[in-house]
Order: sequence, then structure tokens, then C-alpha cells
Amino acid sequence: MQAVSSTLSGNIRVIVIDNPPVNATSQAVRAGLMQAVEQAAGDDDTHAIVIACAGATFVAGADIKEFGKPPLDPHLSEVIHAIESSAKPVVAAIHGSALGGGLELALGCHYRVVDGKARLGLPESTLGIIPGAGGIPRLLRLAGVDKALDMAAGGKPIGAAEALEAGVADALTQEDVRAAALAFAQRLLAEGGAARRTRELPAPGCESQVFEAARAKFQASHRGQLAPQACVDVAERSVASGFEDSVAYGRERFRELVTSPQAQALRHAFFAERVATKPAGLSADEVVPIRKAGVVGAGTMGTGIAMCFLNAGIPVVLVEQNETVLASSVETVGKTYRNDVAKGRIAEAMQRTRCDALTPTLRYESLHDCDIVVEAVFEDMGVKQQVLASIEENLRPDALIATNTSFLDIDALAAGLRRPENVVGMHFFSPAHIMKLLENVRGARSSPRALATIQALGKRLGKVAVMVGVSDGFVGNRMLARRTRECYFMLEEGALPEQVDRVLCEFGFPMGQFQLNDLAGLDVAWRNRQSRLDRLSEREVACNILDEIVAAGRHGQKTGAGFYTYDAQRKRSVDPAISELIVRNAERRGIARRAISDEEILERCLYAMINEGALILEEGVASRPEDIDTIWLNGYGFPRFRGGPMFHADRIGAARICERIRHYASQAGEQYWTPAPLLLAQARDGGAFYAR
Ligand code: 3HC
Ligand code: NAI
Repeated sequence: MQAVSSTLSGNIRVIVIDNPPVNATSQAVRAGLMQAVEQAAGDDDTHAIVIACAGATFVAGADIKEFGKPPLDPHLSEVIHAIESSAKPVVAAIHGSALGGGLELALGCHYRVVDGKARLGLPESTLGIIPGAGGIPRLLRLAGVDKALDMAAGGKPIGAAEALEAGVADALTQEDVRAAALAFAQRLLAEGGAARRTRELPAPGCESQVFEAARAKFQASHRGQLAPQACVDVAERSVASGFEDSVAYGRERFRELVTSPQAQALRHAFFAERVATKPAGLSADEVVPIRKAGVVGAGTMGTGIAMCFLNAGIPVVLVEQNETVLASSVETVGKTYRNDVAKGRIAEAMQRTRCDALTPTLRYESLHDCDIVVEAVFEDMGVKQQVLASIEENLRPDALIATNTSFLDIDALAAGLRRPENVVGMHFFSPAHIMKLLENVRGARSSPRALATIQALGKRLGKVAVMVGVSDGFVGNRMLARRTRECYFMLEEGALPEQVDRVLCEFGFPMGQFQLNDLAGLDVAWRNRQSRLDRLSEREVACNILDEIVAAGRHGQKTGAGFYTYDAQRKRSVDPAISELIVRNAERRGIARRAISDEEILERCLYAMINEGALILEEGVASRPEDIDTIWLNGYGFPRFRGGPMFHADRIGAARICERIRHYASQAGEQYWTPAPLLLAQARDGGAFYAR
């Protein structure tokens, strides 16, 4: 199979890129395009050129697998230059995604015809790099500086209609895009239209304040990241100096960024997610169709989970025991969709379709024709066992039952049922209709059919679905529990919430431990703690700062006060009353507080998590380090530009981590700090979680 082929259709040469899976501009594509364009230039029968793609998409970018390796000729910018220089008009036929180098290629064509469902974007900054083949200078000539920066520095793709409106596309079709591009080229020839080179269009005039404002904006939205700032630099250069100069400058910045630690981590994150969402040993043939879903428990999670299904076009039966709660859940769903309509996210007809597809009820019998039911009732073994039995009783024998438990043992939950093979975990994160992560949990007796189905279902719901094993808190919450414990210990030893949170935010988390607690509700954390007291150590039980804060009626953001106080706009401020409470608590318990360095805070937070991650891998609760990284990147705000906890661990090195764990063991005891055997082995053998 040739990566690039070309045929003559009348007097128009159609060049087709065929490089599965996403037509990335690998070396064979670049070389093939160069050759095809040269051939078209010298061919008298060719009057115009259409560049199209085979398969599901236009070119989705440069080949990320080639990054970090020695560059192979020809460079993409040379290929694009050759296309743009063509004396014969060149039309791009875009379907699927035109991303990164793919959009740059399209911008180098003289005209762009887009399919109605196409997406166009410059997502390079999400990979820690910038468009390296003239994407920014060309895009701002077509769409203006603001739009170009939103797309490049912000990494946000746009749809076909927006592309047309912004001047990025010249025509939009709901029919076959290649045929539409051919017709466009024919019309152009008939009207005597010629090549229109984007690089020859004037750059928009722009004051330097615009770029200063953009730097500040992307500094706030992409804290600590280099690439968005570099995009602004390139845009400023594009406006201030000529096209060629800014392209050369962009290439130089690209080269500097592509080998940076941030770009390596972001590339890792990209591929880790693709590994993690494809668990080994599952067969697509086992997947059963989900046409209708049930959700039991219409509280915070049940309501969100119901919306996940509705958003994916799957009708939902929502069962609740409390009529008032049920009505309020239905109201929340309606309000969310009305808000989506108001914000232009969905059409009014879609809002009605989704609301009509929800059947609220107090009767379990209504679940009879559901293909899967997700249970989201109180986190209590007894309650859940009873609810699962009622679900099973009312369900077809082949239908699946999923529990959304946060911590409970799924095997114990399934044990009393007649068909434990149908039982799995689907651990959604709050708010369930927004958060991308889904931990799918494999019970000891879950059937391959059940597992393959929930994995496919996760994708259909638009989630990043990672398969994990049964364990207290599965992967994410289990690791978080270790970090949480250290954070509370540090409060009694000498730190304050604002210091701990600042350190975590400076590392790149969107919020710190105590800000997170305030957001999720301290009453929830307190109830969780009470239900687990029998599993806590003496020191953990005695560490009762949370109990005192909750006893003071401070339940977090929702009550205007928790570890911090919040005003009506939920703006946070440090509360001296909390500092006093923490200091007094330590005094009463005879703990001599000391200054704790930022370094210690970061190490204790990270190494507690990494060590638990290593145990999770050894136990097989997570199959691969990619699974853990993907969970932390998508569910817990681990900074993407650091690749995830296990990738970050490799950066630090197992030897150093083990040494620091031993140090903390000397302070607090081995009960809290014992290096995982896997880390010890890595330290001994020079190993790592990822092959180097
Ligand atoms: N390079 C190499 N491989 C790529 C790739 C790329 N740019 N984009 C996707 N792939 C691979 C994936 O790894 C996956 O491989 P696998 O099947 O072996 O796991 C396969 O293509 C399918 O990808 P997805 O599972 O993600 O498929 P989807 O249909 O869900 O999504 C997509 C398709 C929207 C195109 C998505 O893959 C995507 O967003 N890709 C990345 C796009 C991107 O970031 N492009 C910019 C690259 S940088 C660049 O162009 C620099 C330039 O300025 C010089
Ligand atoms: P919630 O208290 O908001 O909702 C639980 C709902 O279940 C209540 O409305 C209750 O009336 C209903 N219910 C109880 N028994 C029932 C029965 N027999 N039949 C029908 N309905 C019944 O609780 P929340 O926060 O939604 O949690 C639900 C589950 O999700 C728990 O297992 C929790 O651990 C888990 N979870 C919670 C997350 C969160 O952030 N809140 C995140 C991930 C999982």
C-alpha cells in the first residue's frame, strides 16, 4: 500500500493520503506528498489539485512516534511550502480531524472544503510543543490573532461551522467531502480562480498589549506550561516580522521544546491513555449492546451517572426510594440541560429528547428491560447488598449489574447474588457527567462478557475507562488515602493547610488537599472516616483535626467554611481560627510542632502515593503503570506535564525514593513508611516503571 497516491479526475489531480490509523504525516507521507505535488506541477493535464485522505479522518497530525528521534527529510514545512507554492490551485478535502501538522498542511492548501462533522485544531501545546510547520503564522492571517491563539495556545479545536465562520474553511458540505472539493476546484477553474497563498495574505495589525494579555491568560489557564507561552511568542513574531522569519522562529522554538521534559511527559500521557483504555484479554466479540440502562439511587452520583447515559443517547430508568429526592434529581437533570441550551452547547430539541429518555420511578420492577443497572446508593455494605439483590430479582438473567462503590469489596457485594458473573464495578467520579475518568472494576467472578461490555460502554459514554482490580479504594482512592493521611499528619506536626495546598498547587495540581476536601464536603470525608475507624491505626484515630472542624459546623464550601472560609462568590481566604484550632489541637495532644519545609511536604505527598502505586502494581490491582498514570491524570488532577505519578517516579529514580522513604520511616515508623518491594528491586537493579 502506498502512503500517497494520485489519480487524474478530468483535469483535476486527486492526491490521496492513506496512512492508517490517522493519516499522520510520517516520513512516507511527506515524501509521497512532495513527489505527487512535483508531478502535478509538471503535468499539463492537471489544472488543479485536491488533497484528500482515505479512512476515517483527514491528517490528524505529525507522527508523534517520530518525535525525539533524528528528523527525516523532507520536513513537513518544506512539503507545505511546496504545496502552497503550486501555481495550480490546491483544495484540501477535510473530513474527521485536521489536527496539528494536518491543519498546517490544510492551511498550506489554497482553499479548504470541510465536512460538516470535521474538527480542526492545533493541539500541539497539549503535547508540550508548538505547531512546527507554520501553523500559527498562517492561521492568524486567516482567522485573526485571538482565534489563532485560542486554537494554538489553548489547544482547543473548532468544529466545521466555526471554521467556516472564522475564515479557516471556504466551504462546508454535508455530502461526500472529496466530491465537494472536486466540484469546488472545478468551479474555481471555470471562474478563472487562481492559487491563493495564505502566506501572502497580510498579517493582522495587533498591539503588543494583546500579546501581554494573552500571556497572562494562558499563564492562568495553563499554569507552569511552556508551550502555550511559546505559541504567543510565535504569534507576536508573526505579526511583528515577515512570514518566513516567523516560520523559521517557530521551527527553532519547536526544536527546543520537542525534547523538553514537559513534552516528553505529555507525549507519555497521550500514549499511556491509549494503552490504559485497552485492557489486555478482552474481546470485542463479547461486547453486548446496551440499549437501555438503569440507575438506582438518585443522589449526587446517581443523577450524574443518569446524565452520562442520556448524553450518550441511552434511555435511563432512575430508581430511588425517596420521592422528594427523585423529584429533585429530575429537576437537576432538567436544569443542567436547560443550562446547556442557554450556553449553546446543545439544541433545544436535544434537551427534550434527553429529558424524555429519563424514566424516574420508585419501583424496581421498571428495571425489567434494562441491559445494565448501575447502583449508586449509600456507601454501606448491608444497604448495597440488599439493593443489588432487589436489582437482580427484577432484571433479565443476562443483564449486567454495576456498583459505583468507592471503597467496598465488589466480590463481597456479588457473593450473595445468583449471578455474580454479571456483577462489575463502574466507579464514576464526581460530578459524574463531567469527569472523564471511569474506573471499571473487575470482580473475581466477573465474566469476560461483562468486562468487555463495560469497557466498550465507557468509551461510548465518552469516558477514559481504565480496568482495575478489587482493592480498598481501587487504584485512585487507595493512593489518595495515603496522601491524605500524610497531609493530616503534617498538619499536626507543624504545617498549615495553606502551606500544604500551595506546595501541591506549585507542583501543578489544580487544587491542594484541603481545598479538595472543602470542595467535596468535610461531612462526607468525616462520614467516610467514621465508617473506617476500625481500619485506622491508633495515630490516625487520634489525629482528629477533621472531627473538630466538622464539629464546629464547618462542612466546606457548601457551608461557607471548612479549612478555609468562602464568600458568596466562593472566593477562598485563610481563616486564623483554623490555624488556632490546629495549633491548639497539637498542644492538647502533646505534639511539639516544628517548621516543615516545602520539600518535605512534596516528598511526603508524592512518595506516599508512588509507594502505594508500586504495591498496587505488584498486587495486580492495576496491570500496568500506564493505568495508574491515566487514572491520576484524568480523575485527580495530577499535572499532565509531569506525566503521572509513576512516570514522575522514574524521573526521580527508585533509589532516591527508597532513601527518602527510609528517612521518613525513621521519623514516623515503618508502619507508615516501608518501601514497596517493587521499588526496592528497582533501586537495586537500576530498574524503572517504564522501560528506558
Ligand atoms: N501520531 C501517531 N499516532 C497517532 C497519532 C499521531 N499524531 N494520533 C493518533 N495516533 C494513534 C493512536 O496512538 C492510536 O494508536 P493505537 O490504536 O495503536 O493505540 C490510533 O492512532 C488511534 O487513535 P485514538 O485511539 O486516539 O483514536 P480516536 O478515533 O479516539 O481519536 C484522534 C482520533 C482525534 C485523531 C486522536 O488520536 C488524536 O487526538 N490524536 C492526536 C492529534 C494530535 O495531537 N496531533 C498533533 C500532533 S503534533 C504535530 O502535528 C506537530 C506539527 O506541528 C509538526
Ligand atoms: P447520596 O447520598 O447523594 O445518594 C444516595 C442515594 O441513594 C440517596 O438519594 C438515597 O435515597 C438512595 N438510596 C438509598 N437506598 C436506596 C434504595 N434501597 N433504593 C433506592 N435508592 C436508595 O450519595 P452519593 O454521594 O451519590 O454516593 C452514592 C454512591 O456513590 C456511594 O457508594 C459512594 O461511595 C459512591 N461515590 C460517591 C462519590 C462522590 O463524590 N459523592 C464519588 C464516587 C463514588
